[in-house]
Amino acid sequence: MSVLNKLIEQAKNPKGFVGSSMLCIMNVAHTSMTKWALSNIEIIEHANVLDIGCGGGKTVHTLSKMNPHGKIYGIDYSEQAVENSIKTNKKDVDSGKVLIKQASVSSIPFSNHFFDMITAFQTHYFWPDLENDIKEIFRVLKPNGYFIIVAELYKIKYHMTKFKTKEDVEKLLKETGYNNVIFHEHRGSICIVARK
Ligand SMILES: C[S@@+](CC[C@H](N)C(=O)[O-])C[C@H]1O[C@@H](n2cnc3c(N)ncnc32)[C@H](O)[C@@H]1O
Repeated sequence: MSVLNKLIEQAKNPKGFVGSSMLCIMNVAHTSMTKWALSNIEIIEHANVLDIGCGGGKTVHTLSKMNPHGKIYGIDYSEQAVENSIKTNKKDVDSGKVLIKQASVSSIPFSNHFFDMITAFQTHYFWPDLENDIKEIFRVLKPNGYFIIVAELYKIKYHMTKFKTKEDVEKLLKETGYNNVIFHEHRGSICIVARK
């Protein structure tokens, strides 16, 4: 496997020392994109928020600061990512404000209509079955809740064979049942806000 493919594999499913180092780098490298994307969103007080593919846990940390009275959940199918996210959010994990679980987007371990907001940063282009994974997210989202996808455009184009354009994603989200889909773009990144 080439070095590039090894790095892509680690971004998709971080493992061991190399994976942990990449998660630390991503925590820093994605900060300004995350800040911009979250500036497009207002979080209601006491919201239950889920970050899918939480990686090194920096977004969970930011969401927890933005939502002092709510509860923040993070899931990631990588054991290494779960370990790093717990470390990044140790204080909030210890107090019970943040909960990190190892789980795949394809089978989210929460009941129907549980979350007010669900975020997915730099991860949806790795998911195994976007149509069904987006339905699974719809299941755990409350009516009127928001699902937010954020990614660099070139990564969407590079990794995905389907759903590369705004129109494709909008059609998929609307067919799943989301009522309102808004796109924001900034310096090569896209933030899609879909309301249930
Ligand atoms: C490029 S990293 C982004 C991490 C973090 N969201 C960030 O912005 O820094 C992608 C993350 O998505 C996770 N991931 C990929 N496919 C997943 C899936 N099917 N279910 C849950 N997590 C997944 C990976 O384990 C990895 O931690």
